[in-house]
Amino acid sequence: MAVTSVSQIREKYVSFFEGEGHTHVASGPLVPRSDPTLMFTNAGMVQFKNVFTGLETRPYKRAVTAQKCVRAGGKHNDLDNVGFTGRHLTFFEMLGNFSFGDYYKAEAIEFAWRLMTREFGLPKGRLTVSVFEEDDEAAGLWAKIAGLGEDRIVRLGAKSNFWQMADTGPCGPNSEIFFDHGEQVAGGPPGSGEDDGDRFVEIWNLVFMQYDQLPGGERTRLPKPSVDTGMGLERMAGVLQGTPDVFETDLFRSIIGETRQLIPDTGAAEASRRVIADHLRSTAFLIAEGLLPSNEGRGYVLRRIMRRAMRHATLLGAAEPVMFRLVPALVREMGQTYPELVRGEAMIAETIRIEEERFLKTLSRGLSILEEETRSLKQGATLAGAVAFKLYDTYGFPLDLTEDALRLRGISVDTRGFDAAMAAQRAEARRNWAGSGETAADAVWFAVAEGTGPTEFLGYETERAEGEIRALVRDGRQVEALAEGEEGFVVLNQTPFYGESGGQVGDTGRMTGEGIEATVLDTSKEAGGVFAHRVKLAKGSLASGDAVALEVDHERRAAIRANHSATHLLHEALRQVLGEHVAQKGSLVAPDRLRFDFSHNKPVSAQELDAVERIANQVIAQDSAVETRLMAVDDAIKAGAMALFGEKYGDEVRVVTMGAGTPGNKVGKTYSMELCGGTHVRATGEIGLVTIVGETSVAAGVRRIEALTAEGARAHFAERELLLKRIAAALKVSPQDAVARIEALIEERRGLERQLAEARRQAAMGGGGGDAGVEAVGGVKYLPYVAEGLPAKELRSLVDEGKKRIGSGVVANVAISDGKATIAVGVTDDLTAKFNAVDLVRIGVAALGGQGGGGRPDLAQGGGPNIEAASAALAAIRRELEAI
Ligand code: SER
Repeated sequence: MAVTSVSQIREKYVSFFEGEGHTHVASGPLVPRSDPTLMFTNAGMVQFKNVFTGLETRPYKRAVTAQKCVRAGGKHNDLDNVGFTGRHLTFFEMLGNFSFGDYYKAEAIEFAWRLMTREFGLPKGRLTVSVFEEDDEAAGLWAKIAGLGEDRIVRLGAKSNFWQMADTGPCGPNSEIFFDHGEQVAGGPPGSGEDDGDRFVEIWNLVFMQYDQLPGGERTRLPKPSVDTGMGLERMAGVLQGTPDVFETDLFRSIIGETRQLIPDTGAAEASRRVIADHLRSTAFLIAEGLLPSNEGRGYVLRRIMRRAMRHATLLGAAEPVMFRLVPALVREMGQTYPELVRGEAMIAETIRIEEERFLKTLSRGLSILEEETRSLKQGATLAGAVAFKLYDTYGFPLDLTEDALRLRGISVDTRGFDAAMAAQRAEARRNWAGSGETAADAVWFAVAEGTGPTEFLGYETERAEGEIRALVRDGRQVEALAEGEEGFVVLNQTPFYGESGGQVGDTGRMTGEGIEATVLDTSKEAGGVFAHRVKLAKGSLASGDAVALEVDHERRAAIRANHSATHLLHEALRQVLGEHVAQKGSLVAPDRLRFDFSHNKPVSAQELDAVERIANQVIAQDSAVETRLMAVDDAIKAGAMALFGEKYGDEVRVVTMGAGTPGNKVGKTYSMELCGGTHVRATGEIGLVTIVGETSVAAGVRRIEALTAEGARAHFAERELLLKRIAAALKVSPQDAVARIEALIEERRGLERQLAEARRQAAMGGGGGDAGVEAVGGVKYLPYVAEGLPAKELRSLVDEGKKRIGSGVVANVAISDGKATIAVGVTDDLTAKFNAVDLVRIGVAALGGQGGGGRPDLAQGGGPNIEAASAALAAIRRELEAI
């Protein structure tokens, strides 16, 4: 069967090189993690950059890949060509074979020749190659291996035949292979001066990597000569399907066909459909990696790509958002090879739709302004930069879109004036900000943000990346460098470290480089979206412009993720159990615990807490995928997403959904949907378990729960288990019997206390009878007694018994317990006319350092703090009896 379709070619290429000892490595991401100097991955070798330079070693020396690439923005930018040639794309797949110091020119050329002519069956007569003008070796090899004549081996200069990834990085002379589509197509062979036509299409580039280009112009040799090749998959599909036009190949025909369904033919330029088909691919793949349209950095390039496509949709006559409706067709075509498209389908479509709606709202107004402003301009004139800036700032027209719209009329744009207007607006923003009363500490960050722009956060997708240092801050001031042993803040162009916000603590980890070893102690998000990494530099020094490797503490981040997702689960569970009035009032998501404050005006009972815990754990057991997508804030809230009251959100928000309804609740619906910028588990099962360990009040109407998950929960239970074992051991019973044992001990103690009280009373009564302890005072019987340890409540009955025993007289007893002295005085009825128990007890109370005392003439009671004065109190009463 002839190999012709995109997927067959991909497969053939990979299996051919696997047969030659190459390891099949998956495509790296489009947003480069190991190269902060690149806008997007623009070639297959990007993920191997550090392998070529020797910084990194892998278990293989030969690799083969199908790499997704975007060439828009930065070096190798093809954006403006797309739609107007048959071979330029912003997104494409590059097939490549690599040798890391293993084989070199001869084998690379032999492999290429054999695969092209034998496996793909390309006729030799249609192939022409170019080599770097000084590379006699390569020219000789092509003659020898392929038998190509001198006329088919073209020698060219460094501009086309010395390949380098970017301004820095691995590079070397290269040799390109061209396919001749035949004379019916316009264009000439490489180097002929007519090579911008589509007739001779470059299909494969073999780079003989030899050098590493350093910043500042110096070039060093790589540890070993290596090979990096790149074949444009779409162009090869064109060759095998007999067309020089990649948009005529199977994959594009299908997507362009879909645009015809959505936007019927109006006779408008076909180029617009091609722009849409190509831009849809770069847009979808970039969003699938977590990139979002914005006004800065990579996000801005994405926005430009998106808006360029949207503009072309309107040129075709579309008045409504249509691009987002093409997403399913793309996922059908490419989802099998790139599952990230399937996973991200909802997020991609939603993000495109929001951008389309927003753009369409301002497009016609912007176009009419453009029309007004340029009505009087003739061909060859220039549009003022200030007008282009207004279109950018107010109507969201990227500069190249304005340029595009005017190009056909031969009008150019004053780009310098545009830049000046932009700079003036920034300065104005700064002045306004300076007056807003922020602290001095923030001022430094604002200045940093001015210079660097916001940091690009890669941490939703990865915990490891390289970044380029853009600014350093020490002691509240920007500095040029940090020296060994110093502590300070590092700002980079991109980072996987989460900066503290939304209750989630900042990441910690490591920052390394050649001779550099630093600990990232914390990360915070400062003014202007700048991520400040607080570092302690153990080895080496850091300076602006340095590239460093960044690695988040994975274990700690995993724990934070589990706790953050658990917070969402508890929030919804609390609403289900306590009611809809429950709203988040604050939270803390740390690696070792989570805290969630919410509105509720009474304590949450143990049963309610148990119910909350049970629901949250049911959703954990579902192990359902946690999904994030970008939505317009109003749509998100309409869809039922929980937002923080009073919180300011941008127009677009990140929405995190997880779980499905649990039995009895929200059956068949999403369990939780919240606006959130934090990092989360991929599936709820990763949380393992959540347990609530505390419930308290923090303010009127606000309760706080604290909870643990995963390892934290396990450690908590292990500790409890240990405690139980110690209790059982102390009780000398098994843990199962511990409670019964404790209850028995309590019961036993109560019995003993009763017996003890009885014994004391007996002792107080002088051993049970007779005249023991009875004194004759002033002609009456007086029975005084101090009962140590007797509970105060026993005192009255003791006095009553004393009265019975003496028949006629006065009884005065002091009970000492709990650090207090209580005194009771009893007078037998026959003597109440003579002695008043209330008067007598007051004398005793005064001696005990207390106040008052009261009762009836025959029995009165009171107390005081001076327990040592018990005998003195009884003596004072005795003196009173003598006196009467
Ligand atoms: N790096 C080279 C290119 O992109 C070959 O893979 O053309």
